[in-house]
Amino acid sequence: MAVILNLLVVNGPNLNLLGTREPEIYGSKTLKEIESDISNEFGSIHIEWFQSNDEGEIINKIQTLVDGKVNGLILNPAALSHTSIGILDSLKAISIPKVEVHISNTNHREEFRKNKITAMGCDYIMEGFGPSIYRLAISNLKFVIENKG
Ligand code: DQA
Repeated sequence: MAVILNLLVVNGPNLNLLGTREPEIYGSKTLKEIESDISNEFGSIHIEWFQSNDEGEIINKIQTLVDGKVNGLILNPAALSHTSIGILDSLKAISIPKVEVHISNTNHREEFRKNKITAMGCDYIMEGFGPSIYRLAISNLKFVIENKG
């Protein structure tokens, strides 16, 4: 029987501005549009979407995952990917499968975006497919969880 999945998607600073923020890099869909399109597509998966511009709030949210009730985490730490040891440590404290995602291909951008501190705390990293990266990450995570790696 198929496992019923509970996934959490966490988005970091400035991703609340998707749609208007540098659309040539991030596309023209708002975060709300991305969330509802993808949630509708994966009707059988329960997906919670969380966005914050605040590093502490993101750490608090990740800490709620310690009880293992959520099956997997998709995290776009945005700029905090390049700086946050606090988020890295919170990721290391939880044992569910974790995917770091980026909408843009950070390897084609400024040098500082190549350094991803938080990705060291994730099992997987995916990037550069535009806003569809969330859809692709959910699909891959579903495969990994249902096939136990
Ligand atoms: C981003 C890439 C980061 O370098 C940047 O700071 C972001 C968005 C992405 O999704 O491509 O805010 O995480």
